[in-house]
Amino acid sequence: MSQIQQSPELPEPYRLARVVADGRLTDELANVSRAVNLGFHMAEPDADFLAHYAVHVAGERLWAVHSPEPEHELPGLPVATLASYDSTVNTGHGHLEPADFITDVTVRPTHRRRGLLRGLITHDLAVARESGHSMAALTATEGAIYGRFGFGISSQDQRIEVVSDGRFTLAHEPEGSVEMVGSGAIDEVRREVFDAFHRSHRGSHGRLDWWVEFAAGRWNYESQKPNRRLRSAIHRDAAGRPDGVVSYEVAESFGSTLTVRDMEAVTTEAELALWEFLASIDLVTRIKASKVNPSTPLPWTVRDPRLVKFTGNADLTWLRILDVPKALSVRGWDSAGSVTLRVIDPLGWCSGSYRIDVSEPGAPAEVTRVGDQDVATLDISSLGSLYFGTVRAEALAGARRLRGTPDQVRDVARLFATDDTPHNLTEF
Ligand SMILES: CC(C)(COP(=O)(O)OP(=O)(O)OC[C@H]1O[C@@H](n2cnc3c(N)ncnc32)[C@H](O)[C@@H]1OP(=O)(O)O)[C@@H](O)C(=O)NCCC(=O)NCCS
Repeated sequence: MSQIQQSPELPEPYRLARVVADGRLTDELANVSRAVNLGFHMAEPDADFLAHYAVHVAGERLWAVHSPEPEHELPGLPVATLASYDSTVNTGHGHLEPADFITDVTVRPTHRRRGLLRGLITHDLAVARESGHSMAALTATEGAIYGRFGFGISSQDQRIEVVSDGRFTLAHEPEGSVEMVGSGAIDEVRREVFDAFHRSHRGSHGRLDWWVEFAAGRWNYESQKPNRRLRSAIHRDAAGRPDGVVSYEVAESFGSTLTVRDMEAVTTEAELALWEFLASIDLVTRIKASKVNPSTPLPWTVRDPRLVKFTGNADLTWLRILDVPKALSVRGWDSAGSVTLRVIDPLGWCSGSYRIDVSEPGAPAEVTRVGDQDVATLDISSLGSLYFGTVRAEALAGARRLRGTPDQVRDVARLFATDDTPHNLTEF
């Protein structure tokens, strides 16, 4: 049974319930799933879908908003939903910081623009803050929704298309070897390779286990059935250890376009070897991929770099810093310096001035709250965008989202610059 929660954030007369998600499929859970599918224009869930859903959301905080009874429209269905769970983000130098991951945010069309999203998200963020989380993350369906709640774009989805006809050759032979494997037979290898990727890449976001079902082709939420077209290959390094995995499909029999559904590569050698393998597949002349390494060496290694086209670079994750001193003290810093920042938070939680001191590259920052001063100023969403190094401070200054003298902006840019490019593979 769900528990009715006190929620001063929600407009009257709505009621908030926390729905139990312990792996069992209840009527209440099925109604949350129906409401989520309604919000995202997905097909009405069938029995198979609900069985997968119940397992995949186990352990999540499932918030459901109800209209007061009697509900004439869609009896039993919540009018709004939001789910969140604890996972980790790589904040640089191998540190994995616990964060509140938010997903499945929907509001029924007949109840939109009455403040239900605002009520749900401020409630969830407040719970996350109280439990000691320094940050929250989400992926968004639209770009204009979450900035007002303090979220800033923190990682980007780089998409590419590669011409893989006979012209594709690499200038060097990548190390290691690639072998094809049964898609459903390497769950543990997928988990291990992702774990190694997650630990070694700044900006990486943790994954729930439903992703393994997806990569193995056992379940696809969009088509609501298994995907028997998925094929997989793994890369082993020179010592024989798996350090790369790819799942791909060719949507039409004898088709010419291959779509990468999931690729994890711990090293650039593994990445290049997997690309070389994909490009070698007969009948395929074009490869499409998303969430590609933003610093991929591919176009610099292909003998004809015009075979690699960057086709998109959209926002992937959005970060909401909830505790500035804690978030900055666990960030991996590559430069030394001292900067004072004034932060403006539309929800008020983080507003104030902070002095950040990093004694040497690699040392943790000391972050001290100070009185308001005439210093570089930015909103909390911009700090979320600076956090992994996805954007440089000069760009935010050009956009008037970081305000300060040229010297102040330069000092922020130097301190927040990272040696590595953030790379995230996870959408949620
Ligand atoms: C996006 C969605 C959740 C918004 O819910 P809602 O209850 O109508 O939002 P609220 O009434 O709480 O709006 C809060 C604020 O966000 C703004 N807002 C809401 N949806 C917006 C949108 N799609 N684009 C831009 N601004 C939006 C509102 O104007 C309001 O602004 P204000 O407080 O500054 O005046 C809802 O439209 C929906 O379910 N969409 C389909 C599913 C979806 O895209 N979910 C998001 C998943 S990431």
